Amino acid sequence: MGDAALGTRNEDGGAIERERMATLGVLAAGLAHELNNPAIAIGRSVDQLRESIAQVDPILRQVASHAWTEDELRFLARVGATTEAETEITAKLDVIDRADREDSLISWLEAHEVPSSPELAAALVDRGVTPAELAKLATGCSTEVVADAMAWLSRLTMIRQLLDDVSRSASRIGELVRAVKSHAYTDTARRSVDVHESLESSLTLMSYKLREARAKVVRDYDRALPRIETYGTELHQLWTNLLDNAADALANSNRGERIIRVRTRADGTGLSVEISDTGPGVPAELAAKIFQPHFTTKAAGKGTGLGLDIVTRVVAHHHGTVTCESDATGARFVIRLPLVQPSAAPDGAS
Ligand SMILES: Nc1ncnc2c1ncn2[C@@H]1O[C@H](COP(=O)(O)OP(=O)(O)OP(=O)(O)O)[C@@H](O)[C@H]1O
Ligand SMILES: [Mg+2]
Repeated sequence: MGDAALGTRNEDGGAIERERMATLGVLAAGLAHELNNPAIAIGRSVDQLRESIAQVDPILRQVASHAWTEDELRFLARVGATTEAETEITAKLDVIDRADREDSLISWLEAHEVPSSPELAAALVDRGVTPAELAKLATGCSTEVVADAMAWLSRLTMIRQLLDDVSRSASRIGELVRAVKSHAYTDTARRSVDVHESLESSLTLMSYKLREARAKVVRDYDRALPRIETYGTELHQLWTNLLDNAADALANSNRGERIIRVRTRADGTGLSVEISDTGPGVPAELAAKIFQPHFTTKAAGKGTGLGLDIVTRVVAHHHGTVTCESDATGARFVIRLPLVQPSAAPDGAS
């Protein structure tokens, strides 16, 4: 890529802005969808929370309807504490192990005349509570006390579960907003970034499109890579446009394997980022054309043929290279970039 393009790029701020808006355009469609899911989930959880809290009242009346001994009150408090924290162990439980634990909890709860025990058992398993632990806590308590305490625990656990769902959805929205913010930088100032952070925020914003393409993203990161110098959000434009193409390629593929591999490595004094897909690849006769502005094989409205042109310009601006290799296994785009950008020439031209 000649210096001519470079010159043009720096002088024509408009081109940068148009490209950035083009890339944001690619993201906007998916983003609206991505934001919609957690928003709906929060709405649903809040409705269920309202219900669960309404159900607490009669349980509290029941608990308060008879005198509790010191031991029984201690039991109630300890039972309530059993589902406080979500334990990592259960997250990794396999289906069979989970079912066994649920069954043994259900039989314990039924033996203690606790209603709706399957949901409670599932929630208790999620939080790593075992029948042995409950049995130990319930030692010396009457069946009535155990039943009341369990009814209380059931609502409490449900409320905790729903609060976890709300905070998960809220952090998902936060993640999306951060990713958008990192794309929305308007300045093109030079700065150093973690290449994996910029990849992850593009992957976050592209998650809807990648899911639509039923793509499995495989990350092969060299985490020891140092930070890299870039300008504004230009790196995001690279990853977003290459991921967009890979998702389109898989969407048109009827192959079983639907993988997008993102690989980072040190490369001489710089680094390389490879984005490859198991799609149909780029036909040999088109290889020379795909980087040309406005060249597209996609239907109108699906492709403007600008993605790889933006990639070429951004790479040139970073004094890097972009190559495309393609064969029967799919396409592979390799971006090689220096870690440090040459200091700006005294006349302001880079
Ligand atoms: N991963 C890929 N696999 C197969 N073909 C690809 C891949 N990436 C790009 N191409 C081919 O290169 C052409 C140009 O890609 P480019 O990103 O520049 O434009 P586009 O994707 O068609 O439209 P736009 O990116 O503007 O939405 C595509 O139309 C497609 O034919
Ligand atoms: Mg494209």
